[in-house]
Amino acid sequence: MDILHETEDYFQFIKPYQEAMDFLMVQINILNDDYREKYKDYPIHNIQTRIKTKESILGKLEKKELKKDFETAKNHLTDIAGIRIICYFESDVYHVAEQIKKYTDLICMRESDYIAKPKPNGYKSYHIILGVPVYHTDSKEYYPVEVQIRTLTMDLWASMEHRIIYKSSNVNIKKSRKVFLEFAEELRDCEKQLFELKEENNKEEG
Ligand code: GTP
Ligand code: MG
Repeated sequence: MDILHETEDYFQFIKPYQEAMDFLMVQINILNDDYREKYKDYPIHNIQTRIKTKESILGKLEKKELKKDFETAKNHLTDIAGIRIICYFESDVYHVAEQIKKYTDLICMRESDYIAKPKPNGYKSYHIILGVPVYHTDSKEYYPVEVQIRTLTMDLWASMEHRIIYKSSNVNIKKSRKVFLEFAEELRDCEKQLFELKEENNKEEG
């Protein structure tokens, strides 16, 4: 069954992914509220969520040279549900990741630390694929949710890179790559400076 032509089936298909994402969002919001209460400080600047569109699911299956049906999508794609958590500083990213991994009932399916080990193009982010339980009347099934955790400067870099070069066959690719590698370095220094300033100010406040 070609998923492009089955709109109703698409909504049926994504339902558990939406539920898994909602479940996780409740936990993440509690975490952020807890921080505000306890530390008068908060690690999260903003959170974005998205469910992959039918077109995007189809595109990814095609790229992976897989059959274009729901069954295959369910078995092979782990980013149908996605949450992006934008933090202020690098230490916040690790803190949030650690907290999220502590939740019982979630399964950590895959973890990639592109902060400790950035991609060759300069991409930085912390990715966790979580298995989130979805309860049916008499059973429970785990659905994957891709969580990307990164700082504001990492997100600025990734958004610009995505807009300008990621997955494009740009003729100016060599120049673009160079610009983005330099941009990554500048942003890293910038974030470091701001972090030091924040620490200094915190000390003075006592
Ligand atoms: P995709 O097939 O692109 O989803 O990659 P993957 O399944 O091998 O996982 P990976 O952890 O490499 O990437 C997951 C997601 O992170 C992507 O869908 C993008 O949203 C983001 N991402 C990864 N690499 C880059 C990059 O070089 N630039 C930008 N802008 N985003 C990236
Ligand atoms: Mg993806």
